Amino acid sequence: MQLAGKRFVLTGAAGGIGQAFAAALAGAGAQLLLVSRSEDALEALCGRLPGSGHQLVAADLATAGGRAALVTAAGVEVDGLINNAGVSFFGLLGEQGEAELRQTLELNLLLPMLLVRDLLPALQARGGTIVNVGSAFGSIGFAGNVAYSGSKFGLRGFTEALRRELADSGVNVQYLAPRATATSMNSAAVQAMNSELGTAMDPPERVADELMALLARGNGVRFIGWPERFFIKLNSVLPGLVDKALLRQLPVVRRHALAAATARE
Ligand SMILES: NC(=O)c1ccc[n+]([C@@H]2O[C@H](COP(=O)([O-])OP(=O)(O)OC[C@H]3O[C@@H](n4cnc5c(N)ncnc54)[C@H](OP(=O)(O)O)[C@@H]3O)[C@@H](O)[C@H]2O)c1
Repeated sequence: MQLAGKRFVLTGAAGGIGQAFAAALAGAGAQLLLVSRSEDALEALCGRLPGSGHQLVAADLATAGGRAALVTAAGVEVDGLINNAGVSFFGLLGEQGEAELRQTLELNLLLPMLLVRDLLPALQARGGTIVNVGSAFGSIGFAGNVAYSGSKFGLRGFTEALRRELADSGVNVQYLAPRATATSMNSAAVQAMNSELGTAMDPPERVADELMALLARGNGVRFIGWPERFFIKLNSVLPGLVDKALLRQLPVVRRHALAAATARE
């Protein structure tokens, strides 16, 4: 896809990966509608971006009013929607409140569906592109992340079904699955766990490079990182082997999850 002059809606724009996406897209000549909750953060980001014509919407997308503000600002000139906003609450299921579980499913899964539904007429009119930002945890379920994994598995299923539903519509539907990435989404407990488990963490710019490669390709799915890609394949054909490998990690995950719960109290 040629990005120069194209207008993209980017949710989660002020987050770690969102800022890297914004820089890469604006650098390629796209005009952005940047969406996050903090107006100050969006204004600072907007001021750093190359190009002109970028707009911002400070909105809580967990609310109907926030989503309506985004859809109104987007209008009919939309060439791309990047569903990047998301939340993660690391911890054991038994330690999580209903509000955290609801927020995880609503932000990570229901929100992309609602935004696609509302922006689809505009996207269809311009042969646009949708990118849903999933996760390696959307293909491999992980202890300490059961609601998050569930939401990202759902997002991957939504993406596949939507791609098939829109196959003759001229709209591209794509899925980008980062592995662990160094942003504030990962609390100190997650960072300590990743370091103990030897889990690689990408810089957000790596994820932005992968987004640009995906957009250039114009279709399909991209899972970032090795050995994550291998384990994703293995999990789909021999999940018992992955169960065994992850069982060895379970005491470490449990210890850090309980530390995270104690830190929240
Ligand atoms: N970091 C990782 O390890 C990792 C790995 C795989 C996939 N991902 C996925 O990558 C995406 C971006 O994550 P990130 O690492 O950049 O996280 P982040 O730095 O925490 O950014 C999350 C973004 O989502 C926005 N958001 C959260 N709740 C919102 C709400 N109610 N209304 C509007 N916006 C809301 C935040 O807005 P505010 O700016 O207003 O807070 C923020 O801009 C997510 O979908 C995440 O699941 C991340």
